[in-house]
Amino acid sequence: RAYAQAGEGSFDFTEIEAGVSEDMVVAEGYNADVLIRWGDPVLPGAPEFDVDNQTAEAQNQQFGYNSDFIGTVPHPEAPDDPDRLLLVNHHEYTNEELMFPGLGIQDDAEFAQMTEELVNIEKAAHGGSVIEIRRGEDGKWSVVRDSTYNRRITAETPMKISGPAAGHAKMQTGADPAGTDVLGTFNNCAGGITPWGTWLMAEENFNGYFWSDAQEPPSTETSDDPATILNARYGVPGKWYAWGKFDDRFNIDKEPNEPNRHGWIVEVNPADPNSTPVKRTALGRMKHEGAMPAVNGDGRIALFMGDDERFDYVYRFVTEAAHDPENPDPDILDRGTLSVARFDADGTVTWLPLIHGEGPLTAENGFADQGDVLIQTRRAADFLEATPMDRPEDVEPNEQTGKIYVMLTNNTRRKPGDENAANPRAENAFGHIIEITAPEGDFAADTMPWEILVKCGDPSVEAVGATFSPATSEHGWFGMPDNCAVDAAGRLWIATDGNSAEDTGRADGLWAMETEGEMRGTSKHFFRVPVGAEMCGPWFVNDDQSLFLAVQHPGDGSTFDSPSTRWPDFTDGMPPRPAVVVIQKQGGGRIG
Ligand code: FEO
Ligand code: CA
Ligand code: CA
Ligand code: CA
Repeated sequence: RAYAQAGEGSFDFTEIEAGVSEDMVVAEGYNADVLIRWGDPVLPGAPEFDVDNQTAEAQNQQFGYNSDFIGTVPHPEAPDDPDRLLLVNHHEYTNEELMFPGLGIQDDAEFAQMTEELVNIEKAAHGGSVIEIRRGEDGKWSVVRDSTYNRRITAETPMKISGPAAGHAKMQTGADPAGTDVLGTFNNCAGGITPWGTWLMAEENFNGYFWSDAQEPPSTETSDDPATILNARYGVPGKWYAWGKFDDRFNIDKEPNEPNRHGWIVEVNPADPNSTPVKRTALGRMKHEGAMPAVNGDGRIALFMGDDERFDYVYRFVTEAAHDPENPDPDILDRGTLSVARFDADGTVTWLPLIHGEGPLTAENGFADQGDVLIQTRRAADFLEATPMDRPEDVEPNEQTGKIYVMLTNNTRRKPGDENAANPRAENAFGHIIEITAPEGDFAADTMPWEILVKCGDPSVEAVGATFSPATSEHGWFGMPDNCAVDAAGRLWIATDGNSAEDTGRADGLWAMETEGEMRGTSKHFFRVPVGAEMCGPWFVNDDQSLFLAVQHPGDGSTFDSPSTRWPDFTDGMPPRPAVVVIQKQGGGRIG
């Protein structure tokens, strides 16, 4: 079918043209300003970035690599001031070939060149940052460089383990015989901000950091050994990084239980820079994409989470207790029910609880107790016959409408005949979005209706089977939905990961999506990232007058020595730098 002109809808911006370029592009009438880049000082007194003399000591004080989730919490000393905030950002992973000169892309030669100091820089460039930001009289946001709230969290930051798996035999290591204290978090993808002002960091592809001299990745051989079966279900050891060559913690031949201490949701209190982050094991262990909460009508908190792997599942955690805004329980996330989603063809999703001793989750099947169920979340969900999905990324509840949006990014390994109602396309290259409706706004309900909001890809190519509404223009469609956000008006915005000149003829970016009325399923292109990057973050503040975006891995697919872009500095010798960008309307006003 032919493309339409972008029609009337709830978004009034002029759509940008889809395409790929060295710079970012935002809709006409908007400013896009870089707030902070990889290497910029975070801690008070941190050194300025010196790309030719990188050290772990400097990186530990500077903004990390590959910005992903963005959230904000009120300033602890000025909670009602909309112009003073603490902004948190994940540093998902590192691209050595773009950070350091002389390295190739993910090959053996690169491993051979990785030194202990380069690995230590990488560990320091992971995790997250807290930065105080302020909006000046000119309306622009800037980082408060000397703020004592500024903080770096890295792959070495001491953390507590809490909830049913804390202290479990499978969580004990040589360095931590009690199984309650762990160092660091890494591969933090999307996340969440709780109603009590904490930050939830989702640990995603933790498997890639573990090394073995004995086992080749992935360890999928048939084995009777429970530890090998468990590791295989998570792709451990991934051997993507050289960390295990220098640090025994990451070598499973030497510390077989260390991988069990990763793949959790980490709760951090940004208001207290000395607070110890806590891994909340009640929320399960998976390749956690994010954890966005909704406050239920009865005060309980429902968190929605994707496990980002082909054929893995969508999860929900509901707290046992109601959240009391006057007197919040700091450990409310330690008690509650984790469930996994089964999507049936009749349009019902059933949330199946993962409770030890119920149904097949027994000692006979290898689950000694509830801690074991949680450490082996994926195996437990397999036994409950949850629906294998096309890579669940962000799952975002919309408290205003009672809808829950599930981003399913793609799954080209789904074979013809393996389709199911919720994942109806074989060789699904472009992904789709599911809309779940919490009945009468009850986010804790056992069953809910669901439907597909849109199947992504180019709607002009019949074989793709995309279902954007006819009002979507040739620039308005996208593939590979990943992050998403709901703005203050309850409207959906979608960020993508994986579009390129080759795949979709467009860079990744941000699209605004109509979900209501005649325009439902219409998408409009608002922003695009530089070549090689993916779009992360989207986070609205100040009644949608400021939008924070994260530009992750600009220049991906090229190298430090020959980058495809030098965004955002465009300075000779400076590689591209992942960064957080602020979008504002020129002259002020609501975005979109
Ligand atoms: Fe880190 Fe699932 O994207
Ligand atoms: Ca990512
Ligand atoms: Ca993601
Ligand atoms: Ca992704």
